[in-house]
Amino acid sequence: MSRAETKHEQLRSALLGLIEQDPRRELPLPSERDLAAEFGVSRMTARMAVEELADQGFVYRVQGRGTFVRQPWVSKSLALTSFTEDMRARGMKPATKVLASAERPAGAAAGSDLKISPADPVIFLRRVRLADGVPICLEAVELPAALVPGMLHEVLTGSLYDLLESSYRIRITHAEQRIRATVLDQEEAGLLGVAPVSPALLVERVSLDRAGRPVERARSIYRADRYDYRVAVDRRGPGR
Ligand code: GLP
Repeated sequence: MSRAETKHEQLRSALLGLIEQDPRRELPLPSERDLAAEFGVSRMTARMAVEELADQGFVYRVQGRGTFVRQPWVSKSLALTSFTEDMRARGMKPATKVLASAERPAGAAAGSDLKISPADPVIFLRRVRLADGVPICLEAVELPAALVPGMLHEVLTGSLYDLLESSYRIRITHAEQRIRATVLDQEEAGLLGVAPVSPALLVERVSLDRAGRPVERARSIYRADRYDYRVAVDRRGPGR
């Protein structure tokens, strides 16, 4: 897409490039003052870009010493998994029923999350996800159509993440995720084979590729009687 990148985005991409140069070493980042001078941005813009990377776990700050590139996570705590991987890890067989697939304008909310204009097209995909033949999740995803040309002609009953990698060389490496409780409405309950107003977990995810480009905006609704959200958590000591 030939959209002009803002200075903030340029700086963010440059910093991500720096981080990827040697992700094993805990390299210090240049100071905000040096970043501002080098990229011709205000110190505020430089600070915002670094703060964003810190919020997303790419870098960490040490009081009085500066900002450092975080080593890759060793535990599975922050593993970004697909539905398919998630189910296989639990010893269950994943399957998918496609309810809808279409190209349509992004609209305001998806446009903002995917950093495209509301008028830009997205591929919309709504699927029931099954584990060992039992429907446990309803998933609606939107992807910028420009990134996935011809996707509607692909087989959409397999893993979306595998498809992105194999057909479009897009690897999702980071996601912003929000999990909250919800209840199923009549239609959702019917699709998942439970009573209306049954409890569910709503997982909202915006996924980014290596370059920090938003690739997917997803809303997954899991039956609360069949699914729990598992995370391993690590205690971070000083300097981590
Ligand atoms: C999870 C995520 C979704 C993602 C899906 C991909 O369910 N919450 O954001 O779209 O995994 O899974 P798969 O590759 O199995 O289609």
